[in-house]
Amino acid sequence: MADLILETRKLTKEFKGFTAVGSVDLQVQRGHIHALIGPNGAGKTTCFNLLTKFLVPSSGQILFNGRDITGARPAQIARMGIIRSFQISAVFPHLTVLQNVRIGLQRALGTGFHFWRSERSLDQLNQRAMALLEEVDLASFAGMLTADLPYGRKRALEIATTLGMEPELMLLDEPTQGMGHEDVHRVTELIKKVSSGRTILMVEHNMNVVSGICDRISVLQRGAILAEGSYAEVSRNPQVLEAYMGTEAPLQGAH
Ligand SMILES: Nc1ncnc2c1ncn2[C@@H]1O[C@H](COP(=O)(O)OP(=O)(O)OP(=O)(O)O)[C@@H](O)[C@H]1O
Ligand SMILES: [Mg+2]
Repeated sequence: MADLILETRKLTKEFKGFTAVGSVDLQVQRGHIHALIGPNGAGKTTCFNLLTKFLVPSSGQILFNGRDITGARPAQIARMGIIRSFQISAVFPHLTVLQNVRIGLQRALGTGFHFWRSERSLDQLNQRAMALLEEVDLASFAGMLTADLPYGRKRALEIATTLGMEPELMLLDEPTQGMGHEDVHRVTELIKKVSSGRTILMVEHNMNVVSGICDRISVLQRGAILAEGSYAEVSRNPQVLEAYMGTEAPLQGAH
């Protein structure tokens, strides 16, 4: 049997009678990079919002490591190790890159005032923050104002901050959105790197990224799972091809 880190059972979210997510059975295997793809409005972000407790499901269940977390609070989910990468707006543009990671760490530790009174903890905090920056290849940017970071590097900073919360399962909603070719490549490599020893569930529209790094793909359409499997499997599924027709043929250009 597969070692599932995350499972949903008939997960459903209705908005005033409109079913954004309908009876979704999602199974994410531990250690995988799992992609959630589908046309605009398919329900991908709503799924993420349900998983992180930002939205309350209308019905259905969510299990994390076999444990029912359907009724858990957002903070509990985060403590258990389900971390959604921060939005860019969540970083402070007028602080340095290092300061931003430190603040993220301090939040994660939740130790507040007392923590700062100890010089030794401050040293440890600095060391940990620098190690995280090294992990995402941002060490040379540590002293730079965050506002001055190139776009793709801001995503790397977000990922560093997310790693500081010691995620077991990382949720990334369109991590390469709005990026040029070089940044897409860099962030894709970074996701691959940080996936080691963790599980990643990501929404991604760029099929080169999906085919390049994702182990398994679930295709959503109108709130329901249309197909699942490897990239090779789903990309030749006639229903999937049909679901994407009329859009920018996103299944092309991938290997
Ligand atoms: N708070 C809300 N109230 C009402 N309808 C909503 C709400 N949030 C999402 N929806 C609707 O649910 C459907 C799914 O939206 P969702 O944002 O999950 O799609 P998505 O797959 O993430 O799309 P995209 O690729 O454009 O990001 C859409 O039709 C959307 O209009
Ligand atoms: Mg979305």
